[in-house]
Amino acid sequence: MAEAPVRYDAIVIGAGAAGLMCALTAGQRGLRVLVVEHANKPGKKILMSGGGRCNFTNTGTTPANYISANPHFCKSALARYTPWHFIDLVEKHRIAYHEKAPGQLFCDVSSKLIVKMLLDECAAAGVELRTSCTVEAVEQPDGGGFLLRTTQGRFAAPSLVVASGGLSIPSMGATGFGYELARRFGHEVLPTRAGLVPLTLSGRHQERLADLSGVALEVEARCNGRSFREAMLFTHRGVSGPAILQISSYWQPGDELLLDLLPGRDAGEWLRAQQKARPDAELKTVLSEVLPRRFAQRLCELWLQNRPMRQLDVPQLRKAAEVLPAWPLVASGTEGYRTAEVTLGGVDTNGVSSSTMESRKVPGLHFVGEVLDVTGWLGGYNFQWAWASGHAAGQAL
Ligand code: FDA
Repeated sequence: MAEAPVRYDAIVIGAGAAGLMCALTAGQRGLRVLVVEHANKPGKKILMSGGGRCNFTNTGTTPANYISANPHFCKSALARYTPWHFIDLVEKHRIAYHEKAPGQLFCDVSSKLIVKMLLDECAAAGVELRTSCTVEAVEQPDGGGFLLRTTQGRFAAPSLVVASGGLSIPSMGATGFGYELARRFGHEVLPTRAGLVPLTLSGRHQERLADLSGVALEVEARCNGRSFREAMLFTHRGVSGPAILQISSYWQPGDELLLDLLPGRDAGEWLRAQQKARPDAELKTVLSEVLPRRFAQRLCELWLQNRPMRQLDVPQLRKAAEVLPAWPLVASGTEGYRTAEVTLGGVDTNGVSSSTMESRKVPGLHFVGEVLDVTGWLGGYNFQWAWASGHAAGQAL
């Protein structure tokens, strides 16, 4: 006869941001919690996040910073565990941090400190963590609850938390495990795609811009009614930088993507003022003062007509005034999960309670973090969702 499984109050699958927060919260409430992680160490994405300094929250977090088929779903958890709760935890552990861009908080030293903080809190709360532990099967025995068969033995609990994340960066341990498990238990999984991801160009669109690789400029990227004013960067394969990563979450192949190359300026007014002030200067010279020189030159070769400002007639000025604030970028695709920061789509929130993260179909089953169809913008919002949803479930187990 097989040995009886080791029993816990709750088992969390995935030792990432959401899973560790859920485990420590439940552990602090006196629950006996096991976290199983198939990678050889916990929190790998936290370690690589924010360029190794982890942009652990955003003090300006609101539900409007998230993409989901149900934009109301994230409200309850975000309201109950705010950036200030996480900042309190960071300060309790004396982790030095700074605000890089408005609202975006990063560690001064290393994201390792955030992982250590979460592990220390888990240890203090009596949470058991098993790394290099692969779940082979999840069953629901007749007596209720969940039975996990893993490479390290059998474990049982009345509550199971799926915190296995999304599909981005498979080399760091990302799998579709959570989606498969959700489907098996009767949950709908909304189509997934890479988000916060560089865009690729192809054919003549790439040929026209490939040699600008390394050139960066501030733009306002617009697509499907959304806009982000931030830096962008030309790469060998296409375009990247915060403005592009942000808008990538709203873009799909075939969608129109426009870049305002003179954000914050009225292009027509500015061109007319330049024509008056510097009639003998060429358009590319004038543009080079507000745009990177090589890019200004390329614009004048391929999209605008380069000539002394005074020679630009009304239709030519009008054309320039149209192109500069709405320069069309024809992307062919994205770099995909290999480099994406997040996965859009996922477990349909309609099947999950927004206050407890518990399945409406299977009592005791919970979903937290990125595996759910809740995706934040760039800037610390995704970790804030991981902390908030993990905390909500941890309080409800
Ligand atoms: P997460 O992916 O963190 O954790 C899931 C865990 O489950 C992993 O440890 C995985 O190995 C494990 N797992 C998967 N399948 C399993 C299985 N079958 N069995 C057991 N374990 C399994 N966000 C932000 O707010 N600020 C930032 O600075 C950054 N920076 C950043 C950089 C890069 C390069 C990436 C890829 C992503 C970011 N992000 C970010 C996004 C952020 O990392 C992400 O949204 C959260 O880590 C999601 O937390 P989860 O706990 O849901 O998943």
